[in-house]
Amino acid sequence: MSPIFKNIFPRYFNLKMLQAPAADNNKAPILDVLCKYLPQDFQGVCLEIASGTGQHVIHFAQYFKQATFQPSDIDQANIKSISAYTAHHGLSNVKPPITIDITTPVTSWSEKISPATCDVIYNANMVHISPWETAIGLFDTAGILLKPNGFLITYGPYAEDGILEPESNIRFDKSLKARDPSWGVRDIKDLTILADKNGIKLIDKIAMPANNKTLIWKKV
Ligand SMILES: C[S@@+](CC[C@H](N)C(=O)[O-])C[C@H]1O[C@@H](n2cnc3c(N)ncnc32)[C@H](O)[C@@H]1O
Repeated sequence: MSPIFKNIFPRYFNLKMLQAPAADNNKAPILDVLCKYLPQDFQGVCLEIASGTGQHVIHFAQYFKQATFQPSDIDQANIKSISAYTAHHGLSNVKPPITIDITTPVTSWSEKISPATCDVIYNANMVHISPWETAIGLFDTAGILLKPNGFLITYGPYAEDGILEPESNIRFDKSLKARDPSWGVRDIKDLTILADKNGIKLIDKIAMPANNKTLIWKKV
């Protein structure tokens, strides 16, 4: 097969490169938020938890060329997809994805990451599409791995003080709970309790398209 065709239609020729339409839609608005907090020449380490297909990390790594991105996921099809995207884009600042189950302690991970070595931990669309234990694990992990003043950046739909808006998010929450009663849209108030236990403070809440939010948390 001619490389020209592979470059024009990569997704038809590389079945490992999974595509989530939502990730294509939200990657640009999320990058806009990252740019509020990180300079383009940011040289730090960003660990992504639950990278999914890899579309987000690839998009961010092409903009923050001097940063080092460490993608991860629990799912092996996603691990292969992230590797395929990284290879396709030839990105040297994206490390090979690692398998992380965020409900397990950092010390038990097969790939060791030393405490206080991450400048940013990024996590999108995980805590509502998985049991509450993933939220506990995410904040415990951030408490250990973030450097002082490092950011935990989370994205998704959230309730605030018991109120979930608008109607479409209420329907989404019901559909999640119908699929698995342990899933569901989380309340920022409950996440803040997990954050407090780990020396992490919520410093910004940014409204995003499609009734989502980006939350900026800081390790103090
Ligand atoms: C809806 S996808 C979001 C993927 C990506 N972050 C995005 O926004 O496009 C949820 C992701 O959470 C991951 N996930 C679920 N449980 C997990 C766990 N215990 N540890 C790590 N990742 C998990 C899934 O494998 C999946 O990639």
